[in-house]
Amino acid sequence: MCGIVGYIGKNQAAPILLDGLEKLEYRGYDSSGIAVINGQDINVAKAKGRLQVLRDKTGDGNDVKGTIGIGHTRWATHGEPSDVNAHPHLSQSGRFAVVHNGIIENYLPLRERLTAKGFEFVSETDTEVLAHLFEYYYKGDIMDAMIKVIDRVEGSYALGVLCSDYPDSFIAVRKASPLIIGLGEGENFIASDVTAILKHTRNIHYIEDNEIVVLTRDDVKVYNTDKEEIKKDVFTVDWDISAAEKGGYPHFMIKEIEEQPKALRETISPRIKDGNIVLDDVKLTAQDIKNINKIFIVACGSAYHVGVVAKYVIERLCRIPVEAQIASEFRYCDPIVTKNDLVVVISQSGETADTLEALKVAKSRGARILSIVNVVGSAIANASDDVIYTWAGPEIAVATTKAYSTQLAVVYMLAIYMANKLGTITGGQYKKYINELEALPDLVAETIENKDQLAYLASKFYNCKSIFFIGRNLDYAVSLEGSLKLKEISYIHSEAYAAGELKHGTISLIEDGTLVIAIATGRDLFDKTVSNIKEVTSRGAVVMGVTTKGKTMDGIADHVIEIPETSDIFLPSLSVVPLQIFSYYVAAEKGCDIDKPRNLAKSVTVE
Ligand code: G6P
Repeated sequence: MCGIVGYIGKNQAAPILLDGLEKLEYRGYDSSGIAVINGQDINVAKAKGRLQVLRDKTGDGNDVKGTIGIGHTRWATHGEPSDVNAHPHLSQSGRFAVVHNGIIENYLPLRERLTAKGFEFVSETDTEVLAHLFEYYYKGDIMDAMIKVIDRVEGSYALGVLCSDYPDSFIAVRKASPLIIGLGEGENFIASDVTAILKHTRNIHYIEDNEIVVLTRDDVKVYNTDKEEIKKDVFTVDWDISAAEKGGYPHFMIKEIEEQPKALRETISPRIKDGNIVLDDVKLTAQDIKNINKIFIVACGSAYHVGVVAKYVIERLCRIPVEAQIASEFRYCDPIVTKNDLVVVISQSGETADTLEALKVAKSRGARILSIVNVVGSAIANASDDVIYTWAGPEIAVATTKAYSTQLAVVYMLAIYMANKLGTITGGQYKKYINELEALPDLVAETIENKDQLAYLASKFYNCKSIFFIGRNLDYAVSLEGSLKLKEISYIHSEAYAAGELKHGTISLIEDGTLVIAIATGRDLFDKTVSNIKEVTSRGAVVMGVTTKGKTMDGIADHVIEIPETSDIFLPSLSVVPLQIFSYYVAAEKGCDIDKPRNLAKSVTVE
């Protein structure tokens, strides 16, 4: 949540900062701002609303001169979105400018103390405390001030700080909020993630909590809080720059939907060698797997929905009990987790605050942590015993599609891998599953081809006030994701229900013309779901059925969407695709801001 970027070099900073912020807008987009040093002055421009407002206000950055600057795009936590609450925040004298991502938990007592010392606050933000604290502690050495500030504040932060006494450098630090350092030729950068600077450099430093970074045009130095220099490795990012551009598509979401076959191939192929699943990054031995008592899957949002699929798949294949839990619940429920349990943490960003905290709770109780993450070097990846990366590339649309799909693929690989070690599937099943896994990207591509039918159905139903999704077992797990996708981007109320549960109350909401999307792909439960469909059609519902090509829903559902056949465990990868596409077209019909839905942000770094 909130994106920050910083630049020092020979070029004008403001246009580069705005360009970087555009890539980070997925992290928050209710206001934005930049601060640039010009001689001894720090010039600040801020604007409520989308980044375009700031662009218009600054002539695309050309009106704000200088070659060192910091920028911020905000998702409001403390104080409404407004010009004054937007970052950067200045200290009382204007000597310091600060951009911040995270939350300063003890900002109220600090604010009271600073107010008593004569500091005047102009915003409602927690960040302004930081700007004044820098000034309060500054005795001529910015590094000393930084050390004192981070010692005083509690919470999470990634900070970029300009000081007008240092017209040829700036300083940055992070704790529990993401920040990477970009290393260029005669220019250097900070950013919340690599997409913001990919255009300029692929060489980066990852920095740890409370490592302090001093950036000049030709150098980057990293220090610990004892002011000792730390040598950092240089990592080269191999993300394709076009992955962070729209490339002719009207929205990132539809581009990312169409990128799913490629993302799946890149996630699956390197892990299948000579007909076997090879998880190089996983240090779990066969004996470790045999010793697992229970598996917890902990995540938020769509990643949690992957966890619900995983519960059914792992239990079916490995016969180990699995509990999928929402991270914000898990962390506070005093979970009964022991050292014999495996906790699988799923997160695209690798920085979701609740997921990270849930991980820490599980770790403190001795559990082994295996995470499924898309961002290399992220906080969740760093805190895990084992990491399996999804190779989805950058996902920009707030509503996830390709990250969800690649997380599912990793879940399949993990389940099949463990089941093989446990001997709970036969050698024949193992080979069959691997073949089907390798074929999955092509089947997803085939499913995407059905876009026209879904666009037509969206044009018919985009005015619905409420839509229900039903399914059983794996189909129910996919219903959860279909319903979330629809509501987050189209703002249509929707609910996902286990098909057999509907009659225990919610069926009272079904009336003439209510749209029910019934997912009925599983072989064993097809007839059961058909019975549930009949229950709703006899009460006036219009049913859109999603099923596999081999089954017939003619005369059962009003509209039938067919997906290719494969083993039941893989069907969620296919059935989710029409739900993503339907949601996309419904939102497009309604004229919604598809890539940046209201009130949401992609990386949720607050509780
Ligand atoms: C936000 C995003 C969702 C995502 C969830 C968890 O709510 O909008 O798409 O599923 O966070 O994010 P993570 O990065 O941990 O997967």
